Amino acid sequence: MSHQSAPAVGETDLPNLDFQGTTPYEDYVQADVLTHLQHLRSDDPGEMVFLVTTQVMELWFTVIVHEWETASAALRGDDIPGALVALRRSCWELEALNASWKPIAHLTPAQFNAYRSALGEGSGFQSAMYRRMEFLLGEKSASMLVPHRGAPRVHAELEKALAEPSLYDEALRLLHRRGLAVPAAVLDREPTARHEPHPELEAVWAEVYRGDQESELVRLGEGLTEVGELVWRWRNDHLVATRRAMGSKVGTGGSAGVAWLEKRARKNVFPELWTARSHV
Ligand code: HEM
Repeated sequence: MSHQSAPAVGETDLPNLDFQGTTPYEDYVQADVLTHLQHLRSDDPGEMVFLVTTQVMELWFTVIVHEWETASAALRGDDIPGALVALRRSCWELEALNASWKPIAHLTPAQFNAYRSALGEGSGFQSAMYRRMEFLLGEKSASMLVPHRGAPRVHAELEKALAEPSLYDEALRLLHRRGLAVPAAVLDREPTARHEPHPELEAVWAEVYRGDQESELVRLGEGLTEVGELVWRWRNDHLVATRRAMGSKVGTGGSAGVAWLEKRARKNVFPELWTARSHV
């Protein structure tokens, strides 16, 4: 990607044009691979942006999982500033992820129908990377591994993610190490189980939020709250795009469609961080 030696005669101000094999840009970015993964299933010209938007979102999911794993490791090592740097990056990435709804947020049912049947039973519900995001948020569920039984690498990665403490677990363990009364039932929870809202945990966050507003713990709470809000926005933007594109039809993945998504979108990410605010 840098300027290299041997400019062509008379073109000294041009970047290097002469490479033995593939360009260093290609070697790093693999743009040729990336831009030939668009295998369309219909003749409809609108399908391309639907597929690419989905692929772009998968890439953002991958980056965000990386950031949250980085933040989790930092919290495990009692490094709150390190965790906040990764969480902040993930928030900018979530903003970009959410902005990528724009090109497909206004589909009419007829426009979506033009390629919908070509998707078969394919559904974002089967996205393993999205599932890893949900696991990191504490929304664990062993049954979400079932669709991936036939894909050994994906299945193994998900199985590992299911068994590991979530980002929220790591934050709560840190609060415990800092002397806060995190209930034992939360700390000793089976890591493969979903995080359920806990009133004593709400009291813990309320105590944090009543304290010094510049403290590391309030900043951690706010970092997680920002993540929670942006994830909630993704879910809601998805819900509204779905409502516009298909009303209340059943989903390609076999769910009740919008009704199912509404239920998912009603859930608060890191629930006690939201409910604690009523008690501060
Ligand atoms: C207008 C376009 C879209 C429509 C109409 C739509 C519709 C749906 C529906 C009905 C479901 C429920 C499961 C099912 O029965 O299929 C679902 C789930 C899901 N979709 Fe979409 N979707 C759209 C675009 C996208 C895009 C671009 C992504 C990006 C990867 C995506 C990711 C997901 C995910 C991750 C789930 C599972 C959500 C969860 O587990 O809570 N969807 N979608």
